[in-house]
Amino acid sequence: MRISIQEAAKRLAEGDLVAFPTETVYGLGADAENPSAVAKIYQAKGRPQNHPVIVHLAPNADLSYWVSEVPVEAKKLIEHFWPGPLTLILPRATHIPDAVSGGQSSVGVRCPSHPVAQALLTAFSALKPNGQGGVAAPSANKFGQVSPTSASHVVSEFPAEIQAGVLSVLEGDDADIGIESTIIDLSRLKEGVGAVLLRPGHITRGQLAEVLGYEPASPDKAAPRVSGSLKAHYAPRTPLQMVREEECKQLVSHIPAGEKWVLMAFKEMVSQITSQVSTTEVGTLEIYAVSSDPVAYAREIYGLLRRLDEQGYQRICVQALPQDANWEALNDRLQRAAAAFV
Ligand code: TXA
Ligand code: MG
Repeated sequence: MRISIQEAAKRLAEGDLVAFPTETVYGLGADAENPSAVAKIYQAKGRPQNHPVIVHLAPNADLSYWVSEVPVEAKKLIEHFWPGPLTLILPRATHIPDAVSGGQSSVGVRCPSHPVAQALLTAFSALKPNGQGGVAAPSANKFGQVSPTSASHVVSEFPAEIQAGVLSVLEGDDADIGIESTIIDLSRLKEGVGAVLLRPGHITRGQLAEVLGYEPASPDKAAPRVSGSLKAHYAPRTPLQMVREEECKQLVSHIPAGEKWVLMAFKEMVSQITSQVSTTEVGTLEIYAVSSDPVAYAREIYGLLRRLDEQGYQRICVQALPQDANWEALNDRLQRAAAAFV
């Protein structure tokens, strides 16, 4: 099952799918210039056709091959944050297939910092006559589900495609960041619309503001479609709910008899609740202590949700997160996960 970087690059060039590690989450990649290869992504994910995918580029890629304009804002952001977990939405070059842009006039581009991703992108580019290879890749999960942060997550998500030989998995270590890239839309600057933060991530709104000189806006209704911005997304199979701090202590009394719930709580809360409370009249509450550092929390969250999904809980409860800017991306993901169940 293990394949080399060269073999993976070759499979991409032949129009097959290759899942690969990035610093954020694993991607499900296809040759961005091959519409039938990109169609395989949509089919494997079960994703609506009109949702655009991000094009991943090697560190030495010629950006002007992929986008029709590189505004000064983009140059500044690239200088600060590439390679890294930042996706820029820019006006697309005319040869970008509709399958990649979802038919929109823009394209999302990102240069990942993960060494395996970079090696794959470089090897794939070398197979192209003009040296420019882009890999279209959404997160390597079924549509609407939790993103994969390890090779084994990808393998468990797509057994049929792997079995059929349509998908190979390029293995790497677990994703270091653990949540998807920050997405900033710079495609409407000419219309007088400034930078818009479409998806918060590891790179925060404040860090972007420092480089841009102003705080990016939040999306309005005219903003392009982003599947990750659907109200319900990023969901585990087990119903998930956010629980306010003051309600955590009473949570056990709400559990129906015979049910087993888990609460992801911060350490200070854990010490205030007796774990493993179990009587015949009430259900069981198990407590899982989570980090109070947003970076460590992000690294762990998707793998944890997948593990909890395997453990037969009737409900996953999550202690409400702090509302400060460093927690914006995690609030975004977990609120959308919870929205899948209301
Ligand atoms: O960290 C990441 O960004 C990962 C890794 C694999 O790079 N990729 C990822 O892809 O999260 P995906 O498809 O799961 O989420 C990308 C989001 C989608 O919601 C998509 O709709 C949006 O980016 N997007 C892509 N191109 C766009 C465009 N031209 N305009 C607006 N949104 C776009
Ligand atoms: Mg995704």
